[in-house]
Amino acid sequence: RVVGLIVRQKFPMDGSMTGDIKIVRTVKDLRAQVEAWKKDGLKVALVPTMGALHIGHMSLIDEAKTKADRIIVSIFVNPTQFAPHEDFDAYPRQEADDAAMVAGRGGHLIYAPTRDEMYPEHFSTSIQVGGISQGLCGDSRPHFFGGVAIVVAKLLLQALAHVAVFGEKDYQQLLVIKRMVRDLNIPTEIIGAPLVRDEDGLATSSRNKYLSAEDRAQALALNRALKAVTEAVGSGATAPQAIVKGAQILMAAGIERIDYLDLRDAETLELIDGPVTRPARVFVAAHVGPARLIDNMAVPAMPPEA
Ligand code: PAF
Repeated sequence: RVVGLIVRQKFPMDGSMTGDIKIVRTVKDLRAQVEAWKKDGLKVALVPTMGALHIGHMSLIDEAKTKADRIIVSIFVNPTQFAPHEDFDAYPRQEADDAAMVAGRGGHLIYAPTRDEMYPEHFSTSIQVGGISQGLCGDSRPHFFGGVAIVVAKLLLQALAHVAVFGEKDYQQLLVIKRMVRDLNIPTEIIGAPLVRDEDGLATSSRNKYLSAEDRAQALALNRALKAVTEAVGSGATAPQAIVKGAQILMAAGIERIDYLDLRDAETLELIDGPVTRPARVFVAAHVGPARLIDNMAVPAMPPEA
């Protein structure tokens, strides 16, 4: 029997399915539920999150629903992926609202482990995914991918779902997770889901909650810069020329702390410093008001000259 807390949904979301959703907090209860579903021949998906759910997370649930019969959303603000000076304490926590959103979107179970369940006393193991986790966020947040790798490996091994869905908003994270899962033979298929933007073009993020109206107006320059880089490549600019166009937009918007604005190979994340002759992606990370925001966009390769 799976023992869980039943959260009664307080309000219907988007007019979609309403009802109760169970929250489990231990690996034992999570596994009991997953095993019961598997015994019934059901396909199970895991959507790992840190909570403070928004429309971007809902799109991950939608993607999971196309691949599986039962959807688990995990909610855990993972301390090991924050440096001491970062926003772990301030990170928004709103479990009841999150539970209502997951129920309303057709999720079936929330896994919200305690810190002790994830990191018991004398926890000693680390995972370092080389190569792909260097550069970009690996440079500006050196602790980050180690923390993500260990918590995601644990979540995947705890749930043993058939598939797990991650957003392309955190594109480098998605590639790091895919590499780790392949290297360690973790038996879960990793699915990437497209980035979701709000109507004004800002990439959805739990950290957007930190932005004032003025910050938000300034943050829109990120999307504009990515578009400018993509368009410049489309009209024949080399990677460095295109990056200059994007950087000009960020600077004109008054954004001063730019961690990176890079054009990289979409698969290997190798930096491109000449003509863009293979599928690429442009990545940005910048500080706006109290938030560090990231965004990225696909950049099609230039067609070879006839
Ligand atoms: O992308 C996130 O929300 C987190 O990095 C993840 C994958 C849930 C691990 O804590």
